[in-house]
Amino acid sequence: MSVPQSIDPKHLPRHVAIIMDGNGRWAKQQNKPRLYGHKVGVDSVQAIVECAAEWGVEVLTLYAFSTENWKRPADEVGGLMGLLKNYLQKELSRMLKNNIRLTCIGDVEKLPKDVHKVLKNTISDTSKNDKLTLNLALSYGGRSEMIRAVRMIAAEVKSGDIKTDDIDEKLIDSHLYTAGLPDPDLLIRTGGEARLSNFLLWQASYAEIYFTDAMWPEFREEAFASAIAEYQRRERRFGKTSAQVESG
Ligand code: IPE
Ligand code: IPE
Ligand code: MG
Repeated sequence: MSVPQSIDPKHLPRHVAIIMDGNGRWAKQQNKPRLYGHKVGVDSVQAIVECAAEWGVEVLTLYAFSTENWKRPADEVGGLMGLLKNYLQKELSRMLKNNIRLTCIGDVEKLPKDVHKVLKNTISDTSKNDKLTLNLALSYGGRSEMIRAVRMIAAEVKSGDIKTDDIDEKLIDSHLYTAGLPDPDLLIRTGGEARLSNFLLWQASYAEIYFTDAMWPEFREEAFASAIAEYQRRERRFGKTSAQVESG
């Protein structure tokens, strides 16, 4: 699978983050239970991971389960956890073959024990891979990530390891779940809603945001290529003027 003609392989986003939304509504349109939408959504995950790896994206962060999603009905939460465990077990061989490293962000201690164990094993089995980093956001919330970081930093100030004046962007970055990863360049949300839903609140401050009405189960290679092509048409100014950006 080569890079589609519509995108420039030399200017790919290094880090793409995706809010995979719309599984439930898509299933409803098909007169199917919500879990069926999540199942077909896993096929989209496989397809998009493969594209990202093939095209040369460095990091792909997928918002799979938010801190707020624990409030869903227990059978849906259980179904999602089962799908996650299956996915990890089924994909390990492909991750090894395709040189994909798995990482995760979020309060993963909250996941059911068996799922947590498979997750930890997959992370350690793929830790030496260096093509695509597939970063799963699980039991993730941007606000709890910040609370956790502030607590750690406060403890370091209290113990005298650092001074208040040492607190800067780099220090905060290094206390987030995403420490060591570049900030997302492109943030995609499927499913027609235009909100962040507590995703990467700090890291996405200069991400290009792309909203699409496509539901996640129908978001595949062509739709992903369109999102990247749109990203490549935009001018990232980072607060400067267009003239400044053009003169480099
Ligand atoms: C995204 O699809 C998957 C998760 C949040 C786990 P939804 O389940 O939110 O689908 P909609 O938004 O209800 O259609
Ligand atoms: C965001 O989708 C979370 C994930 C995709 C995992 P939601 O469906 O939970 O978001 P809201 O509730 O519509 O904001
Ligand atoms: Mg939703």
